[in-house]
Amino acid sequence: MSDVEQTLSIIKPDAYERNLSDKIKAIFLKNNLSILNSKKLHISKDEAAEFYKVHQSKPFYDQLCNYLSSGPIEVMILEGENAILKNREIMGATDPKKAKDGTIRKLYGISIDKNSVHGSDSAENAKIEISFFFNK
Ligand code: CMP
Repeated sequence: MSDVEQTLSIIKPDAYERNLSDKIKAIFLKNNLSILNSKKLHISKDEAAEFYKVHQSKPFYDQLCNYLSSGPIEVMILEGENAILKNREIMGATDPKKAKDGTIRKLYGISIDKNSVHGSDSAENAKIEISFFFNK
């Protein structure tokens, strides 16, 4: 049975500023994830804090919000079979040093902060994150 899902992807400032958007999008398309909608943005620190509020108790929260608001990003809705898990596999581990060969973070990530991409981690968060950027 097919299970077509949507998930949110963000091309983070480190990847955007190195002009990696097209290369990253090509990886999504090659893995049968279609890009339904995308936009370029430069969000404020308050918006980043709202987006990442699930992490507000973490020691790296402030740094994380500063980082996501530090430069332009591209946000997009990906759609495909098992898109949420598939996108997480394509991205690789959060820490690029631990990511498997061929994953986006292994290819392009610089550090655990500058790890090039974000992807929703569950169906519930995918809904919340998509509406954060696209249903306002
Ligand atoms: P992301 O998938 O966007 O979700 C939260 C982000 O927090 C994560 O990617 C990392 O870039 C960032 N982060 C910074 N430090 C840590 C850490 N120690 N553990 C997990 N995530 C971290």
